[in-house]
Amino acid sequence: MPSCLPLISKSRIISSFLGGEIEVLNLTKEKVELLKEAGYSEKVIEFYMNKVNVGVMRNPDVDLAYTGPCGDTMKVYLKINNDAVVEYARFQYLGCPGAASSGSAMTRIVKGKTLEEAKRITEQDILLELRGLPESKLHCPKLAVTTLQKAIAKYENRKGRPS
Ligand code: FES
Repeated sequence: MPSCLPLISKSRIISSFLGGEIEVLNLTKEKVELLKEAGYSEKVIEFYMNKVNVGVMRNPDVDLAYTGPCGDTMKVYLKINNDAVVEYARFQYLGCPGAASSGSAMTRIVKGKTLEEAKRITEQDILLELRGLPESKLHCPKLAVTTLQKAIAKYENRKGRPS
């Protein structure tokens, strides 16, 4: 079974947050079953369907887009306060449910962390939050972690801090 199925039938906007929009995917029962059969956990499906933290952030302190070796792209937005703590994180992506759910997990984990703590977030942390990913998708958290690390480096370079 191909791992990146055309699962999005349509979406509806339910609310807005920090100038971005949260969309919920209207997946049919059959499509959710296909995701389960492909080995995606309930948590991944929940993040994917609810598009947790997906969207644009207005006036972020830093944003950065990165395309991984698989061809999928993620853009991360961070709001960072004067104590170097990540107050909010959002992201956009072009890719598979593994990329989407990894971005949701990463933005959840990084919220409230100092930049030093954020730099120590690993792919394993994301896999734990997601309760795993199918074997063929185990590389997807790397896209989220790398995009986050590059965004932090960009922010620190601009601030003149070491990264
Ligand atoms: Fe590229 Fe999932 S296949 S991040």
